[in-house]
Order: sequence, then C-alpha cells, then structure tokens
Amino acid sequence: MFFDHFAETGAVCAHRGARALAPENTMLAALLGYESGADFWEMDVHKVADGSLVVFHDDVLGRTTNVAELVDFTDRAPWPTHMFTLKELHRLDAGSWFVRDDPFGTLADGQVAGEQLDAMHGLKIPTLRETLEFTRLHDLPMNIEIKDQVQAPGDLSIVDDILGEIRESNTADLILISSFNHEYLVRMQKIAPEIPIAALVEDSHPDDLVAYLRHMGATGYHPDKDMVEPELVRMLAGHTIRVTPYTVNNMDQALSLIDAGCFGITTDFPHLLRQRLSVR
Ligand code: G3P
Ligand code: CA
Repeated sequence: MFFDHFAETGAVCAHRGARALAPENTMLAALLGYESGADFWEMDVHKVADGSLVVFHDDVLGRTTNVAELVDFTDRAPWPTHMFTLKELHRLDAGSWFVRDDPFGTLADGQVAGEQLDAMHGLKIPTLRETLEFTRLHDLPMNIEIKDQVQAPGDLSIVDDILGEIRESNTADLILISSFNHEYLVRMQKIAPEIPIAALVEDSHPDDLVAYLRHMGATGYHPDKDMVEPELVRMLAGHTIRVTPYTVNNMDQALSLIDAGCFGITTDFPHLLRQRLSVR
C-alpha cells in the first residue's frame, strides 16, 4: 500500500514531476523528480475526447503546449483539453514553452543540464499508462490527482477507467488518489478500498473534518499550505490521517511543516527540499 513505502513524516513529493526543472506533467519531469530524490510524485489526469486518460493540468491546452501555433486547430480556441483526441494531443509539443518562458528561472540559473534542455523540445503529453509504467519501473510511488471533469458533471466513469489502468499495470501498491472533487474519491474507495485516497481542499476545511474524512474513507488530507497549522496536523495524526500540504516552494516553510508532523510536502523544487533534509 502507498503509505507503507514511507516514514511517518517528511516525504518529498515532486509536484507535476520536478516542475521547476522540466515541463510539468511530462515524462522528463517525472524522471528529474526521481533523480532529485523525491519519495513520490504527483500528476494530474484528464479524460479526453476518445476516452483516453492523459496527464495534463489545465482545462485548456494553451499555456503548456504549442497548440496556438497549429493552424488546423485555430478554430478550436481556447482549445479545451477534453475536446481533443489522444492522436491530436500527440501532435502537440508540451515542452518548448518551458525553454522559452523559463517559468521558475532554473534554466537561467544553470540548474538544468544542456542535454535535458535539448530533450524538452517536442515532449509529448503522456498517457496515464506511460506514467504508471514509469512508476512501476522505478518503484516510485505516485499521487494521481483526478482533475474535475467539468464538462461531465456527475459522470464518475473516469474513476473506473483509472482503476482499470492501475490494475492492468499492477501498480495498486504504489498509488495514492487525490481530487478536489470528493465524489471521485468516494467512488474510488467504494470500488478499490485497498487504494488510499486523499482529499484536496483549497480555501477552507470542511466542517467536522475528521468525521468528514472518515465518512469518505480518506487517510490523506491535502490542503493548501497556508491552511495548515501544527495543531491541525497533530489532531489529524491522532486519527491516522496524513497531511501533505501543497505547493510549498519556500524550503524554510517546508521544514517547519515537516516539524509540525506533516506526512509529505508537495513542492515544485524536490531537489532543494531533498538537499535541505539531507543536511539536517
Ligand atoms: O497535489 C496538490 C496540487 O497538485 C493541487 O493543485 O492545481 O497544482 O493541481 P494543482
Ligand atoms: Ca495537481
């Protein structure tokens, strides 16, 4: 089971892969997360037009691909992710934007090797299956975040489809499922109670938090970093609920949250957190 792979506190989670070092949610980001010494990695899943499950963050394709440059797709702006087939998505370059924009300043700082920079051009949007195979190959646990399928409210089939892929790839022991849409979590817990689930929240804690999480069967809680107080972490630990705040890019804050008892830290800079932890 996912949590069996870790100590009680201080697991380093590479957010969307090592998102500060490589284009998010690509196989290169996963690899650099692994090489950075992350304990597990996080990625985002959407279901697209032909039913394929792909690893991508946004509801639209513009920010992290070159879709705007492809004339065939001009009339599909703003390019909703779910309206493209896997074959169409595979025509996109999901890496060059990172080299162009250097969103974290890591390229200017020389933190990324030249050969990795070259490899960024033309990176593809991965399928869920590819990431599961990577996770199995490297024995690197993975947090799958199921993105809310806003185009299909109430449709829980993405959960069943993800479970099918997990089972076929024999990775159930390495997977944690999270979502801001808690209906997906309830469904996953119902059909696969052996796979742990974690509730994501972004601005407020649900009322009667422990009862709320217990009711859905969640053993993980993933709040925004600014919602986390040591007392909350201690209280939840007393109920065997592991807290992993997101997205913590200030390493002093990350260490304080670990000292408060957080199970994990989701960060865009897993290499920096690993370095800080190694000299403690
Ligand atoms: O795991 C937490 C984090 O990934 C949730 O936010 O927007 O980065 O998917 P987001
Ligand atoms: Ca995410």
